[in-house]
Amino acid sequence: MIAATWIGTSWKMNKLLAEAKAFASRLRECPPPPGVRRFVIPAFPAIHTVAVALGPDSDVMVGAQNAHWEDAGAWTGEVSVPQVKDAGATLVEIGHSERRTHFNETDATVNLKVRAVVRQGLIPLICVGEPEEVFRRREASEYIVSQAQAALRQVPDGSDVLIAYEPVWAIGEAGRAAEPEDLEQPFAALTDALDGRVRAILYGGSVTTDNAAEILAVPGVDGLFVGRAAWDVEGYLALVELAARRGGRELAGASSTRTAPRLASEGLDRPSVPQSTGESSCLA
Ligand code: 13P
Repeated sequence: MIAATWIGTSWKMNKLLAEAKAFASRLRECPPPPGVRRFVIPAFPAIHTVAVALGPDSDVMVGAQNAHWEDAGAWTGEVSVPQVKDAGATLVEIGHSERRTHFNETDATVNLKVRAVVRQGLIPLICVGEPEEVFRRREASEYIVSQAQAALRQVPDGSDVLIAYEPVWAIGEAGRAAEPEDLEQPFAALTDALDGRVRAILYGGSVTTDNAAEILAVPGVDGLFVGRAAWDVEGYLALVELAARRGGRELAGASSTRTAPRLASEGLDRPSVPQSTGESSCLA
């Protein structure tokens, strides 16, 4: 089986409907690249617009940036997993550091939400990452493994789960991308602790086309979760193109070390990893 390289973007609190639709329409023009799994995570109001603009047969997965742990009820201002599923999401991001920092998201609420996502048959994208002082103390690996294990408590084996390792100090305008050597130990630790329980482990935090290739070359990195550099669709497509070149190497023989979970849903409702079509780049 081919190990895909995942390239996803969260738009955070950006894009009006027309902008979201234009991004999705441009993606729709681009054939699925060889060996790359694509996803986009709009803000709630644009999920349905993006899903419709991509079309029912698109390889591009659509996600939500958060969801409540209850399926319905008197929770003013919250959005449930059944609601985002109904809008067209197949993936739900849980526990981004901006939510942990600004909205008091804890390991306990992250876990409740992850279980709600799995219960509804969607894929949780669980974000973990250490603050700068933990990184400086060289305790990043213990910290993120503990966050990931807490998020996965009582999640049935065989659930389809993604992890994004996003060091808090690497995210956003004030962030600086991790150096590849900073990533070796954390990815080895996550792989050791989680292998067989998760589909893929992604890196996020100040990814650009300048550093993407070297980050993807770190053992255990299965893809990239990108903010600013992918908000412009051509920036996103450039990262996809870069990952497709990496995917081509995998097709040629290099192998991923990840043991993916055996999924109850495998082969039923998930599109398979796009194979090489030999088609040329979709860059503008
Ligand atoms: P940036 O790529 O803008 O640093 O954001 C990363 C991120 O938070 C993705 O979730």
